Amino acid sequence: MPTPAAAHVHSLLASYPDFPQEGIVFRDLNPVFADASAFRSLIDELAARFQGEFDAVAGIEARGFLLAAAIGYAADVAVLAVRKGGKLPGTVLSEEYDLEYGSACLELEVGQLAPGARVLIVDDVLATGGTIAATARLVERAGYKLTGVGVVLELTDLVGRTRLGDAAVHAIVAL
Ligand code: PRP
Ligand code: ADE
Repeated sequence: MPTPAAAHVHSLLASYPDFPQEGIVFRDLNPVFADASAFRSLIDELAARFQGEFDAVAGIEARGFLLAAAIGYAADVAVLAVRKGGKLPGTVLSEEYDLEYGSACLELEVGQLAPGARVLIVDDVLATGGTIAATARLVERAGYKLTGVGVVLELTDLVGRTRLGDAAVHAIVAL
């Protein structure tokens, strides 16, 4: 059953064939972020789905930061920034991963939360699942517990969900 947020977000999604490279249909969520009502409703839906189940929300660079900041504020919980490789100081954990278009590295600073803290991972798109799977490994290696995963858009053909084990995954829209 589509939620009110789902119908609104779906109506705003834009698709760009052959971006950033041939064969990829790039799903642009900027029109969703640019619509205050759609943005508020998707943030409220993600925060409500995991209400009481998370002590922190981890956003993945770059578009996941927008979601994590808003959910952290709405739910009054800590925000973790999971960054692309080489941008964080101090002691960091690193995970390499493959993307639909290339490969990359994500990092998390250690010691930001108490051991066992319950973490919700959020990002804009779940495609192959490599990005979120790498983030889940970082969360677990840091000594935290993965509560679940929230995304705005899941691209089901790429079966990314199957790389996330038994994590609870909530997508506002699945295409
Ligand atoms: C995009 C998107 C997700 C990831 C999903 O980020 O924002 O983080 O790809 O792909 P996956 O499920 O196949 O791993 P991208 O790496 O393009 O970085 P950006 O947000 O910095 O543009
Ligand atoms: N991240 C990975 N694949 C993507 C796609 N097709 N559109 C937008 N973001 C993505």
